[in-house]
Amino acid sequence: MKKQIGVIFGSRSCEREVSIISAVQMMRHANPEKYDVIPVYIDEKGQWYTGNALKDIRSYEPFQPDSNGIIKVFPDLTSGSGALLTVKKGSGLIAKDRIEIVARIDVYVIVMHGMNGEDGTLQGLFELANIPYTSTGVSGSAIGMDKIMMKQFFRGANLPTLPGEWFTRKEFEQDSKSVIAKVGKNLGYPVFVKPANLGSSIGVSCATDEEELQDSLELAFEYDRRVLVEKGLIKPIELNCSVVGYDGDLEASPIEMPIQHDEFLDFRDKYLAGGGSKGMASLNRLLPAPIEEELKNEIQELSKTIFRLMDCKGVVRIDYMFDRESEKIYITEINTIPGSLAFYLWENAGMKYEKLIDRMIECAELSHADKNRSNYAYTSDILKNVSFGTKGSKGTKGTKLG
Ligand SMILES: Nc1ncnc2c1ncn2[C@@H]1O[C@H](COP(=O)(O)OP(=O)(O)O)[C@@H](O)[C@H]1O
Ligand SMILES: [Mg+2]
Repeated sequence: MKKQIGVIFGSRSCEREVSIISAVQMMRHANPEKYDVIPVYIDEKGQWYTGNALKDIRSYEPFQPDSNGIIKVFPDLTSGSGALLTVKKGSGLIAKDRIEIVARIDVYVIVMHGMNGEDGTLQGLFELANIPYTSTGVSGSAIGMDKIMMKQFFRGANLPTLPGEWFTRKEFEQDSKSVIAKVGKNLGYPVFVKPANLGSSIGVSCATDEEELQDSLELAFEYDRRVLVEKGLIKPIELNCSVVGYDGDLEASPIEMPIQHDEFLDFRDKYLAGGGSKGMASLNRLLPAPIEEELKNEIQELSKTIFRLMDCKGVVRIDYMFDRESEKIYITEINTIPGSLAFYLWENAGMKYEKLIDRMIECAELSHADKNRSNYAYTSDILKNVSFGTKGSKGTKGTKLG
C-alpha cells in the first residue's frame, strides 16, 4: 500500500502565503507511485482543511472553504492514530452529527514557515500524537525560530555570530532613550533590527543613526514583543547552505550566493523576483557560489555542526554573511523549514526534488522509530506506598513527596 503523506501548510503566520507556494510546489514533486498526498491546509483563523483542490495554487486566490470538495477536518491526537476526522452534519429526524475518518496519515510533511508551524508548536502536537513528521524536533525548532535565543545558543557553542542586544516592547515603551543609548554604546551603527520570531525579512530594517533606530524599533515591535538589534555589516556577501539527514548521517549542499536588490534581502527579493510563483526557488542567485574551496568547506562543516547541535532532522538551510572587511564568516540564522524546502540547492547537487522528499520522509520515520525505542514504560511501586491520610487526620503516612 502507498504511504499516506499529510502535507501540512499555511497556518496563522505572516509567512502563510510563502508556505502555500512551498507546499504546492512540494506536492507536485512527491512520487505518486510511493505516496498518496493528502493536503492539510490551516487557514489564518487556525481552521484545518483537506481536499484535492488544495494541491492547486488557484484555490487560494481567494481561498473558498466548503467548495471544490474542500472540507473542514481536525486531527485525532490519540497516540499513534494519525486519523484526520471530519464532522458530518446529521439529517433526518434524529439529526445527530457524526464524526468520520477522512484519512489516516502515516507521515506528516510540515511545509510551514514562521510562527505556529516552524517554531516547535506543530512539532509538539505531532510528538504528543506520536506521528512521524518531517522537520526538526520541538526544542531545535523553537530555538531556530527565536533570533534572540538562537544567538545565545550559537554564542554558547562558540560559533561565529555578530554582537547583539535585545529588548522587550515594555522596556522600549517605558524608556526608549535608554534602549537607544545602550545600542549606541555597545554596538554602534549601522545596526539591523529584527523581530525575534519572524522570518522572510518581515519587520527587519537597517538603522544608521539614533533617529532611524527609533523608527526601526517601532516597526519591529509592531510584529513582536521581543526584538533583536544586531551589529550591521556593510554589504556583506550572503552565502546559504542546506543540510539534509538525521543523527550523524548528514550531507551538506552546494552553497548559493543570493543577489540582493537593495541594501539587504527583503521580502521582495526573496519571493517576488521572477513573478513570485516559485517562492525561494526564484530568487536571483549564483549557484554554486563563486567562492574558494576553503571557504566552501568551512561553511559546509559549520552547517553540519549546527545541524547536529540543534538535533535537526530532514532538510534545513543555514544562512551566513561574509564580512568583506574582516574576511570573516558569521551565521545569520538557521531556517529549520527553508523556503521551497531548499530543493533547488539539492537539484544543483544532482538530487531530484522527488528524492529529497523520499529522504525527508525516511528521516521522519527513522526518528519516530528511535523515539519509540526509548523506554517510556519504566515503572516502580511508588504508587503503592503513597498515602495522603484521611480527611481530618494530620500528616501524611508512607512516601513523602519532594
Ligand atoms: N547584521 C546584519 N548586517 C547586514 N545585513 C544583515 C544583517 N542581518 C540581516 N541582514 C540582512 O537582512 C536579511 C534578513 O535577515 P535575517 O536575520 O535572515 O531575517 P529573516 O529571518 O527575516 O530572513 C538578511 O538576509 C541580510 O540580507
Ligand atoms: Mg533570513
